[in-house]
Amino acid sequence: MSEIAKIELGGKTYELPVVEGTEQEKGIDIGKFRGATGGYITLDSGFKNTGSCQSAITYLDGENGILRYRGYPIEQLADKASFLEVSFLLIYGELPTQAELASFQESITNHTLVHEDMKQFFEAYPAKAHPMGIMASMVCSLSTFYPESLDPNRTPEAKDLTIQRLIAKLPTLAAWSYKNAMRHPLMYPKNDLDYGANFLYMMFGMPTGDYEPDPVVVSALNKLLILHADHEQNCSTSTVRIVGSSHANLYASISAGISALWGPLHGGANQAVIEMLETIHNDGGDLDKWVAKAKDKEDPFRLMGFGHRVYKNFDPRATIIKKACDEVLEKLGVDDPLLDIAKKLEQVALEDEYFKARNLYPNVDFYSGIIYKAIGIPTEMFTVMFAIGRLPGWIAQWKEMIENGEPIGRPRQIYTGANERDYVDVANR
Ligand code: SDX
Repeated sequence: MSEIAKIELGGKTYELPVVEGTEQEKGIDIGKFRGATGGYITLDSGFKNTGSCQSAITYLDGENGILRYRGYPIEQLADKASFLEVSFLLIYGELPTQAELASFQESITNHTLVHEDMKQFFEAYPAKAHPMGIMASMVCSLSTFYPESLDPNRTPEAKDLTIQRLIAKLPTLAAWSYKNAMRHPLMYPKNDLDYGANFLYMMFGMPTGDYEPDPVVVSALNKLLILHADHEQNCSTSTVRIVGSSHANLYASISAGISALWGPLHGGANQAVIEMLETIHNDGGDLDKWVAKAKDKEDPFRLMGFGHRVYKNFDPRATIIKKACDEVLEKLGVDDPLLDIAKKLEQVALEDEYFKARNLYPNVDFYSGIIYKAIGIPTEMFTVMFAIGRLPGWIAQWKEMIENGEPIGRPRQIYTGANERDYVDVANR
């Protein structure tokens, strides 16, 4: 017998069904609430207590620092799997067989080129253009080159081709946005390199050189991309789902997700963390001063990379990234003062009552920027790296929403504006 919630309103009792998930999460289904109560809605600014869907893709437990993709702990996937393997798992629901993985990898490899006409778009951007602005535009523009992508419910084969084209082309578009900013020649993908190595080749290779991606860096990048691959209904993923719920095509939906991720409270935090650490370093490294500023309600400064809507203990991804950070910097022989500041800042914050009382721990963005910096990724590209990692998650969530036949997202509101009044001619105002 499933649980029932009861609400007393206006002397009447309303019974609401309780939905329970496979990990015993429970939600009160208010799908019929407005009709049953004669117009009452619920209100939850920022959706801190509201579920938007039921999903089988990612499970996270904020209290216990648990994150699993399709049931597999991210610690195992980050340690043993490739990013394309995890992408297949998220999108199609199961780890690929050897044959499936080989076919998926071949399809991705064969679609890494971008239509030559798109090169003109890059040339029109100023050198200082933020790459997230370029990526959001370029991804949406893919829909103009592949009209068969416009119908999300077209044949499964057409949907798979649209999905695999995007996974294949995003690193190329990202690397080209960097090369364009540097006013360097664009590098074309090399089919004998794997996904991460190919991206590094297109970023740091030169037509005149023989750049070889460092295996240590390729391995760290693979791990970082896996750790960013999905995170249930966060801001950008919910954006992808709601844009896709209007049956806008995949490229338009992902472009909206890229725009949402750009914000410094979300994916833009990894860039903001490095900028914060550099500010503290350049200011002489007085951590007590900056921690005090972060606690001061009158001061807009916040410790970027700290806090999380869901993780109220620790972000399991931050734990893995911090370990990878130490390994990569040691293997590359990089001695970054920002890492020392980050570790001291973490220690100070974790011992401070303000942060402990609010469960503010380092999140996924706190250490990732230090690794990106160590492998030569420019700061403005950090959130692009997040987008490349999060792409398979966004795609999986969009596909699940479409295949579940979910309705167009259209929240209600409580109106607080002026009551009815008559128009007054401008001469009489
Ligand atoms: C990501 O949702 C996801 O899953 C996102 C993500 C993903 O994988 O998709 O995990 C990726 O976006 C990680 C978060 C990256 N953002 C940052 O690092 C920016 C800094 N963090 C904060 O802005 C904040 O912690 C949020 C946005 C992450 C969470 O904000 P909430 O849940 O809305 O919490 P809140 O703003 O209501 O804060 C609660 C209290 C407040 O103080 P009081 O009013 O209770 O006194 O904690 C304080 C806040 O002022 N607080 C901070 C703080 N974060 C929260 N104080 C100082 N520094 C901070 N970083």
